[in-house]
Amino acid sequence: MVRHFRRDDDITPAEQQHIIDLAIAMKADPYSHKPLAGPKSVALFFDKPSTRTRVSFSVGVADLGGNPLIIHAGESQLGEKESIADTARVLDRMVAAIVWRTFLQTDIDEMADHSNVPVINSLSNSFHPCQLLADLISIHEHKGSLNGLTVAFVGDGSSNMANSYLLAGAMSGMHVRVATPSAYQPLADARATATRIASETGGSVLVTDDVAEAVSGADIVVTDTWISMGQESEKERRITDFAGYGVTADVMSRAHAQALFLHCLPAYRGYEVDADVIDGPQSIVWDQAENRLHAQKALLHFLLTAS
Ligand code: CP
Ligand code: NVA
Repeated sequence: MVRHFRRDDDITPAEQQHIIDLAIAMKADPYSHKPLAGPKSVALFFDKPSTRTRVSFSVGVADLGGNPLIIHAGESQLGEKESIADTARVLDRMVAAIVWRTFLQTDIDEMADHSNVPVINSLSNSFHPCQLLADLISIHEHKGSLNGLTVAFVGDGSSNMANSYLLAGAMSGMHVRVATPSAYQPLADARATATRIASETGGSVLVTDDVAEAVSGADIVVTDTWISMGQESEKERRITDFAGYGVTADVMSRAHAQALFLHCLPAYRGYEVDADVIDGPQSIVWDQAENRLHAQKALLHFLLTAS
């Protein structure tokens, strides 16, 4: 049966560990796996801007022996003129996988429902699961393991990144704490599912409005923009609402002395993170960005060989 990666919990904890291990092996030997030899093509749809995702998927598909096809919003019939279902039925006759960055999670689910090739969510309003694989690889590289670590997400708890941290972090056996204003809660489904997964992996889930509670003794501190793509009209209100939820040197000082700082980027210095944190010695954001490439190559290899 075809496997998709619509959200972080489309894989099992064992599969997540396998993808992490494979990514680390492929990072050491980048041209060793060629599941797209032919070359087979992968369709990369972007309804929102991207630097890291666009480049890492393009390079990754080429590294795997394949051909990346980048399709921007407005360049295909998808949307106004042609349904998601019909698009999926056409594409899966020609490409080995479909990668889609868009707004609604339900649209990605619909594409997957009608596709006979893997559909990968490369960011929706609700989840950013490819980013989480890169984050977990980065943490694993620097800490040696994931299980039992404490990660504190500080900022917009309603963001795709917070929802994905809950699911993927719990799946890896981490203790996931989210500090967010009470009006910006994670998806109820993500929180409940993460809590269930954590009960099986030994992790845990905490959502609080208290930054100090979340970061106290944490091994990893992570944040994301307060203004996600599509929320630009809410900028002023969000900057007011998230006051006190930025990652400053004082916030980092409450975490473990060896704590790592992560950010999926792009970052807005002086808002969700201060420059001395993201550009300081605890930050691993450049490793994290590079690991998008290795994570997605391993993910594609897994989905293409599992399907
Ligand atoms: N982190 C991330 O997804 O970056 P891009 O928006 O540049 O792809
Ligand atoms: N939450 C951010 C992530 C950017 C990679 C957004 O959706 O814009």
